[in-house]
Amino acid sequence: MSSNTRALEIIDLHAGYDVSNVLVGMSLHVGSNERVGLFGPNGHGKTTLLNTISRVIHPRVGHVRFMGEPINDLAAQKIVARGLIHVPQGNRLFPDMQIMETLELAAYTKCAREELKSNLDYVLRLFPRLAERRRQQCKTLSGGERQMLSISVGLMCAPRMLMLDEPTLGLSPKLKDELAEAIAEISSRGIPLLLVEQDIAFILSLVDRMYLIDHGEIAREIKRGAEVDHQEIMDMYFGSEHA
Ligand SMILES: Nc1ncnc2c1ncn2[C@@H]1O[C@H](COP(=O)(O)OP(=O)(O)OP(=O)(O)O)[C@@H](O)[C@H]1O
Ligand SMILES: [Mg+2]
Repeated sequence: MSSNTRALEIIDLHAGYDVSNVLVGMSLHVGSNERVGLFGPNGHGKTTLLNTISRVIHPRVGHVRFMGEPINDLAAQKIVARGLIHVPQGNRLFPDMQIMETLELAAYTKCAREELKSNLDYVLRLFPRLAERRRQQCKTLSGGERQMLSISVGLMCAPRMLMLDEPTLGLSPKLKDELAEAIAEISSRGIPLLLVEQDIAFILSLVDRMYLIDHGEIAREIKRGAEVDHQEIMDMYFGSEHA
């Protein structure tokens, strides 16, 4: 696959809950070797977008293509089996399960079972803290360890692309740096990333490109190294009348 091939392509996506429309014509893409960020205020549809891509909720209108193929009509498990892996916001771990049990359980697709040993070695090297605590129950882990385990669960699914929803939420600057290094390492293996984060400096340090989401639409795209219009960001967060 050439570096220009799109891993993920979203065209005019509309989705929401009951009578509320959250995504109102969202279009974006992630290249096959790209790290792309999603940034926007609380409640503007970042998680809804990832949930729609991974088919936790159904799109109303629009197209989702993964590795050049339409995946709109696939069930969530089939999307996982294709390797499009969503690490959800807030960790959804089973509290009484141990780290090792959690990692092994995550590798349930055919491809993931075949790669179980090498993926397990990889995550335990990537996060030595999990290796040291391998028999510890999830409910006893710190916030940072839980985030490491959540990302590792995604890696155990044999990803061809990862979508991470606020993996550093609530973490100290030191732990954020540790996770940033791990995310960069994962991406250096050629796994494209779609990364949701609330800290604009942090996200820009990690991605090649970033989309600003505003009320369920893409307001703007910012390339790494480009100047950020902080007024625009303030307006998005507080409304243009605050100035
Ligand atoms: N299951 C649900 N049922 C009804 N409304 C929902 C549901 N999940 C989310 N919403 C609503 O959809 C809108 C978008 O929520 P979403 O979680 O996508 O935002 P977000 O950008 O991820 O926010 P945050 O930065 O706080 O995580 C919000 O108004 C939210 O209340
Ligand atoms: Mg969210």
